[in-house]
Amino acid sequence: MVASEAVGRYRLLTVDGVDQPPAPGQFYMLATAERWGGEEGRPWLARPFSHATADPLTFLVDPVGPGSRRLASAAVGEELLALGPLGRGFALVEGRRALLVGGGIGVAPLAALAEALDGSCEALLGFRDEPCARAARLVTATEVALASDDGSVGRRGFVTELLAERLARSDHEDYAIYACGPEPMLAEVGRIARAWGVPCQLAYEAPMACGYGACFGCAVATRTGFVRLCLEGPVLDAYELGDTGGDG
Ligand SMILES: Cc1cc2nc3c(=O)[nH]c(=O)nc-3n(C[C@H](O)[C@H](O)[C@H](O)COP(=O)(O)OP(=O)(O)OC[C@H]3O[C@@H](n4cnc5c(N)ncnc54)[C@H](O)[C@@H]3O)c2cc1C
Ligand code: FES
Repeated sequence: MVASEAVGRYRLLTVDGVDQPPAPGQFYMLATAERWGGEEGRPWLARPFSHATADPLTFLVDPVGPGSRRLASAAVGEELLALGPLGRGFALVEGRRALLVGGGIGVAPLAALAEALDGSCEALLGFRDEPCARAARLVTATEVALASDDGSVGRRGFVTELLAERLARSDHEDYAIYACGPEPMLAEVGRIARAWGVPCQLAYEAPMACGYGACFGCAVATRTGFVRLCLEGPVLDAYELGDTGGDG
């Protein structure tokens, strides 16, 4: 790891030595090479993280538990183990303007998508509060609108309210939606997109054990049967999912 920087509540890690360039929405299984395990000495499984930028390769880490806290506290120069890029990322819809919809740490793969689009996109981003919302700067879209739970930045309320208003007031047939965030947010984004008939892809961040298709721990129901989020996802088409889609 060559750099580690605080971005509000989150930590942005820059790594080198990974050759294959990732596509937006793909992810890596990350671990530290040393001290990756509990006090009893048993190693933890590697944890899945979307890249936040491809060049340089960065990861935005929300320190929510032991693995993510260990990664967030890794020292510059420390060796990280990165398996990837894994999974299927966003598939750009030709002829439609990209509308990125993010919630909390779900901003990470959207930053990578904005980077791949050279900023030619719009973004609606929702956060809990101002320290989390500082990550919005990573999304280099031409237009960014914010919402927050406590009203400290942007509109007080949910990002899905911004989405519903945006589709109602503009030419919704011009857009394709690419979203990442908590599952209730993704379910609502999918419901709104289907109601307007707008193409929509949802990046799921459900827990994963192996990350490459071996354990079936990440299987979710779609209209056509179960899929493994780590192989057929983590990006799924909102039209493949019912209103309760994405359930494991
Ligand atoms: C494809 C993919 C991409 C991801 N990208 C990122 C990213 O860019 N940045 C980032 O910070 N995190 C990302 N995550 C989530 C990240 O993998 C988990 O937060 C991490 O594995 C937690 O590990 P832990 O050991 O810190 O905590 P754990 O001990 O595993 O869990 C700690 C707490 O977090 C909860 N939790 C664990 N995993 C999740 C989850 N996925 N969603 C909601 N709650 C969870 C647990 O229920 C528990 O309350 C991604 C997940 C997936 C599947
Ligand atoms: S995490 Fe093991 S099959 Fe997907």
